[in-house]
Amino acid sequence: MPPTSDLASSPIAILSALPQEQHGLMELLQRPRKVTHARRDFWLGELHGQPVVLALSKIGKVAAATTTTALIERFGVRRIVFTGVAGGLGHGVKVGDVVVATDFLQHDLDVSPLFPRYEVPLYGKTRFHCDAALSALLFEASCAALAHENRVAHGFEGACVHQGLIASGDRFVSGADESNLLRDLMASAGHEVLAVEMEGAAVAQVCMDYGVPFAVMRTVSDRADDSAHVDFPAFVDAVASRYARAIIERFLNLLSKK
Ligand code: ADE
Repeated sequence: MPPTSDLASSPIAILSALPQEQHGLMELLQRPRKVTHARRDFWLGELHGQPVVLALSKIGKVAAATTTTALIERFGVRRIVFTGVAGGLGHGVKVGDVVVATDFLQHDLDVSPLFPRYEVPLYGKTRFHCDAALSALLFEASCAALAHENRVAHGFEGACVHQGLIASGDRFVSGADESNLLRDLMASAGHEVLAVEMEGAAVAQVCMDYGVPFAVMRTVSDRADDSAHVDFPAFVDAVASRYARAIIERFLNLLSKK
């Protein structure tokens, strides 16, 4: 890892999957400057007095790995925070809740019988861990933001913040049978998954390769069930950007006091 002085001056990357999720953060960005690299737009600037790079991971694990690698190699980021949406998979994970990831696995990775199901070959690992300190700040920021949003904007009744395992895979999970099967298969291998999305495990693996701390928060847009295809776009348009902005503002504020 770089010395502490480098850490303070290196920009923090704030990654989102979709433009709608990034929108609220773009509005806050001070002294914005766009750099196009690897067919992506990277927005450099300041948020709450801190140097940041805003970027879209795009959708899926390969795209997210490319964006993450570019952020580290080209823009010198030494911390990454991901804000996005996910499908709720765990029992009790409702639309409007927030999940802060502790770790990730790939639900569609299966090199059995050569390696155990879900294990990333040649890493000897199935689960890739988020940075505990950054995740603790993100959790605190998420709790405060959710409480505030629900007070002022009448959000989701009883919405709460969870912390735990998230599964990533290159498919949009949109059926109750499929999501039940996924959850049960992973549970039988000892992995109790809270939510499903399409990028986090790739970001986690690249960050581990480079030794870059990262944290991820996902707002639950749907239940990965038969109405996911309707719930997802409605949520992304109406809520995701507002939540991402409220959480990241608080997160950066907490980080600046460290
Ligand atoms: N992101 C948000 N909802 C999702 C779902 N149902 N499947 C995969 N990724 C998602």
